[in-house]
Amino acid sequence: MSCSESKTVPGSLAKFAPSHMTVLSALYHSTLGKKYIMALSGLGLFGFVVVHMLGNLQVFLGPEPLNAYAVFIKSKPVLLWTTRLGLLALVFLHILTAVQLTLRNRAARPEKYDRNKPYRANYASRTLFLSGAALFAFIVYHLMHFTLGLVDPAYLQLRDSADRHDVYRMTILGFSHPGVSAFYIASMALLCLHLSHGVGSTFQSIGFKNKQTAGWIDRVSKMLAVIVFLGNSSMPLAVLAGIIR
Ligand code: HEM
Repeated sequence: MSCSESKTVPGSLAKFAPSHMTVLSALYHSTLGKKYIMALSGLGLFGFVVVHMLGNLQVFLGPEPLNAYAVFIKSKPVLLWTTRLGLLALVFLHILTAVQLTLRNRAARPEKYDRNKPYRANYASRTLFLSGAALFAFIVYHLMHFTLGLVDPAYLQLRDSADRHDVYRMTILGFSHPGVSAFYIASMALLCLHLSHGVGSTFQSIGFKNKQTAGWIDRVSKMLAVIVFLGNSSMPLAVLAGIIR
C-alpha cells in the first residue's frame, strides 16, 4: 500500500508521515496540532486581555498615570509593532483553527444531535464559536473607537496639559454615551462566557485536564473570566456613575 492510500485515524499524525513533510507541517494538519495552536494562541490573547485591562484600570488613578502609560507604549515603536503584529497573528491563527476544527467536527459527525440530550462538549464549542464571532465584531468596533478615531475623529486630537494624547478624556468621552457603554458591557459579558469555557478547554487541549484537575481548572477558569468582566466593566460603569469624570 502506498503512503497516499494508507488508512488513517482522524486526528492522528500517522497519515502525515511521508518523509518530505516536516514535523511542523504534520502537526499543523493534524486535529491535535490545530487544537494546540488554538489553545496557545488563545492563551496569548488572554495574556494580552489581562495586561491591557491592568493598564486601562489606571484610569481610576487619574489622567497622569494613564496618559503617561500611553505615551510610554507609543515611545517604544519596536515593542508596539511587535505586539500589534503578534496579536494580529494570534487572532488570525485562533480564528483559522477554530473554523477548521468546527468544520472537521461537523464532517466527522454529520448526524443530528438528539435535542433532548445536549452534549456538553458540543454546547461548549458552539458557545465558544458564537461568542468568539461576536467578540471579533467588538474588537473591530473598539479599534475604530479608540485606536483609529473613526467613531469620533476628535478623540485623537485631545491633548492634556503636558501636550500628550489625552487617553483619559478620550475614555471618559467614549463611555459617556450610555449606548456605547452598554455595548462594551455586553461584549465583556460575552468575553466572560468565552473565557470561562475557553480557558478550561485550553488546559484540556494541552493535556493538563484529567479527573483530578478538571474541577479546579473549571473553577479557576470561571474565576478569571469573572475578574476580567468586573475589571473591564468597571470602567464604563464608573464613567456613567460619574465616579471618574
Ligand atoms: C472596557 C474595557 C476596555 C477599555 C477601557 C479599553 C481601552 C483602550 C484604549 C484607550 C485603547 C487605545 C490606546 C491608545 O491609543 O493609547 C485601546 C486599544 C486597544 N484595545 Fe482596548 N480597552 C478595553 C477592552 C479591550 C478588550 C476586551 C480587548 C480585546 C479583546 C481590547 C483590545 C484592544 C486592542 C487590540 C487595542 C489596540 C492596541 C494598539 O494600539 O496596538 N480592548 N483599548
